[in-house]
Amino acid sequence: MQLLVNVDHVATLRNARGEGYPSPIEAAEVCERAGAEGIVFHLRKDRRHIRDEDVYALKKGVKGTLDFEMAATREMLNMCVEIKPDLITLVPESRQELTTEGGLNMPGVFDDFEHRVFPHVRQTNIAISLFIDPNPEDVELAHKLDSDAIELHTGTYANARSEPSRNAELERLRKAAEQAHELGMKVNAGHGLNLDNLGDFIHYVPHLNDVSIGHALISTALFKGLENTVKEFLEIMEAG
Ligand code: PXP
Repeated sequence: MQLLVNVDHVATLRNARGEGYPSPIEAAEVCERAGAEGIVFHLRKDRRHIRDEDVYALKKGVKGTLDFEMAATREMLNMCVEIKPDLITLVPESRQELTTEGGLNMPGVFDDFEHRVFPHVRQTNIAISLFIDPNPEDVELAHKLDSDAIELHTGTYANARSEPSRNAELERLRKAAEQAHELGMKVNAGHGLNLDNLGDFIHYVPHLNDVSIGHALISTALFKGLENTVKEFLEIMEAG
C-alpha cells in the first residue's frame, strides 16, 4: 500500500495571498523525503489551487508515483498526454463545489469515456483510475471500460455520523474492493481520510494500492510539521 499525498491545499494557501509561498513543489519534496510513495494534484479548470506551472514542476521534481487528478475535458486530456504522469485519476468536477463531491456518474459517462477518453489516454502508457462510489454497478462499468484501477470514494465513510452507517459504508467499500480486485483492477482510495479514520479503513478494506490523502494531512501538518505528519500517517498504514 502506498501513501500518495495530495498537495492542492498547499497551493490554496499560496494563492490566498498571491505570494510564491508555500510551494506545493517543496511540500512534495518534504513528503517524499518523509516516506510518501507519491504525490497527487488536481488541476482544476478554474486553476483555483494547482496551476499549469506547478504541474510541470511536479513532473520534474516528484520521484515516486505522480497521480494527475482531472476532469475528462479535452484540455486536461491533452495536458496529460504531454505531461505523462504515472497515473491519471478521472473525477467529476463542477465549478461551485468546494471539493470533489462524489464519484463519477458511471452510467452517464460510460459512452463518452469509451469513445473519447480511453482511446486518447491509451495512446500513452499512462494508467487510468476512475474515482467511483463503492457500488457494484460502477465497479463493473469501470471493468467494462478496461480501466487499470478504481479509486474508491471514502467520503461517505469519513463523514458518517453514526456507528451503523459508518460500518455499513465500510462493508460497501470492502465488497467493492474485493470485486475490483477479482476483476483485475487495482484498488485505490481517498477522500476525507485522516489520522482517526484511516486505521479502521485499511484494517477492513483489502487489496489497497494507493491511498490518496490531502486536506487532513496538510491541516495536521500546520501543527505537527509536514514531515512528522507524513510519518504519522505512514505508521498507521504500516500497522494496518
Ligand atoms: N481523491 C480524490 C479523487 C479527490 O478528489 C480528493 C480531494 O481532492 C482526494 C482523494 C483527497 O481528499 P482529501 O483532501 O479529503 O484527503
